[in-house]
Amino acid sequence: TGLFTYDPGFTSTASCESKITYIDGDEGVLLHRGYPIDQLAERGDFLETCYLLLYGELPTAHELTDFVYHVTRHTMVHEQMSRFYTGFRRDAHPMAVMVGSVGALSAFYHDSTDISDPHQRMVASIRMIAKTPTLAAMAYKYHIGQPFVYPRNDLSYAENFLHMCFAVPCEPYVINPVLAKAMDRIFILHADHEQNASTSTVRLAGSSGANPFACIAAGIACLWGPAHGGANEAALNMLTEIGTKDRIPEFIARAKDKNDPFRLMGFGHRVYKNYDPRAKIMQQTCHEVLDELGLKDDPLLEVAMELEHIALNDPYFIEKKLYPNVDFYSGITLKALGFPTTMFTVLFAVARTVGWIAQWKEMIEDPHQRIGRPRQLYTGAPQRDYVGVAERG
Ligand code: CMC
Repeated sequence: TGLFTYDPGFTSTASCESKITYIDGDEGVLLHRGYPIDQLAERGDFLETCYLLLYGELPTAHELTDFVYHVTRHTMVHEQMSRFYTGFRRDAHPMAVMVGSVGALSAFYHDSTDISDPHQRMVASIRMIAKTPTLAAMAYKYHIGQPFVYPRNDLSYAENFLHMCFAVPCEPYVINPVLAKAMDRIFILHADHEQNASTSTVRLAGSSGANPFACIAAGIACLWGPAHGGANEAALNMLTEIGTKDRIPEFIARAKDKNDPFRLMGFGHRVYKNYDPRAKIMQQTCHEVLDELGLKDDPLLEVAMELEHIALNDPYFIEKKLYPNVDFYSGITLKALGFPTTMFTVLFAVARTVGWIAQWKEMIEDPHQRIGRPRQLYTGAPQRDYVGVAERG
C-alpha cells in the first residue's frame, strides 16, 4: 500500500519491545529473562518463575519469602464472588465461567484500577496470580456439584491448587508430592510465551488503559480457541477418538488431506520449527505421573507415542516442520492428575496469568506505549449514495 504493510496473522510484525521472553523457533530455544525453560522447570518452582517474569531477576531467599507472603495473602476471593458463580449453569464450560469470573474481579477490587500508580499495578498483578487458581478451582467445583474449598496458605501454589480442586469436607486430602511437582511444572511450562494470540490480546486491550482484570479476561477468551490454549483439550479428545494404534494411519491421512479440515491437535507451532522445548519436558513429566499412578499402560499414552513416532517420520510433517507442541503431552498428564478435559485450558489460563500480567505491566511502563490500532486493507464497496427503503430493488 505504500503506507503500511499487509500482514495477516502478524507473522512478520513486531508489535512491541519486550525484555521478558525470548524464543528462537529454529533452534527450539525458550528463555525467560535469559533463563532456559528446562532449567526453570527442573530446578525452580512456579512462584519463583512468576517473580522472575514480573521483576526481571530471580528472587533472593528473602525476596521470595516476601513475594510468597504477598501472593498467599491474596488467595481468597470476595465471598460475594461465590454468589456470582451460582448464576451460571452447572454445565457451562469452565472457560466461559473463567471469562466471566476473572472479568468480574474488576467489579470487586476497585483500588487496583488506578493503573498510573506503580504500587496499585503490582497489587493488581499479585491479586491476579493469587486469585486465578481459586477462581479456577471454584469453576471446577461448581461444575461437578461439590462445595467450594477455601485456599490453604501453608501449601505451595501447586499443592494448594490441587487441594482446592480435589479436597472434600468429609475426608482428609493427602497431597502426592510427585503430582504436585508435575502440576508446578505444568504451570512453569505455560507461564509465558511472548507475543502469542492471548498475550497480544491482553496488550491490545490494556493499550487503551482498560481495567487490568478485564484485560486478563480478554486474554482468557482468546486462549480458549482450539488453535491456541484449547489445543490441550482438543489433543486429548483426538487421542480418545483415535482410541487404538491401528487407527492412527487413518487420522494421519486425514491430517494430510487438503480437503479435510482435520489437523493433528498438539502438533505444529507458529514459531517453533524444530521442536517445542516445552514438549520435551512435558513428555518426561507425563511419564513420571503415569509411573507414579501405575498407569504406564494407559492406552492413550500408547496411542500418543505411536502417533508422535509415525508423524515425526512422515514426509508431510517433516517438510512442514510440524512437531509435537506443549499441548500434546499435557492433556494425558492432566487427565492422569484427575482433571476432566474441560478444565485443561483453564489450567493453562491459571499458569499464563503471570505472563499476561507481566506483559501488561511492561506495556504500561513502556514510554513508547500507544494505543494498539492495526490498519486494514479495505476491499469493500466504493462510496455510494443512500437509497430509501421504498426505492431499493
Ligand atoms: N496437522 C496437520 N497439518 C498442519 C498442522 C497440524 N496440526 N499444523 C499446520 N499444518 C499444515 C497446514 O495445513 C499448512 O499446510 P499448507 O502450507 O499446505 O497450507 C501448514 O502446515 C502451515 O500451517 P499454518 O496453519 O499456516 O501455520 P500457523 O503458524 O498459522 O499455525 C498452529 C500454527 C499452531 C495454529 C497450527 O500448527 C495448528 O493448527 N496446530 C494444531 C493446534 C495446536 O496444537 N495448537 C497449539 C499451539 S501451541 C500452544 C499454544 O500456543 O496455545
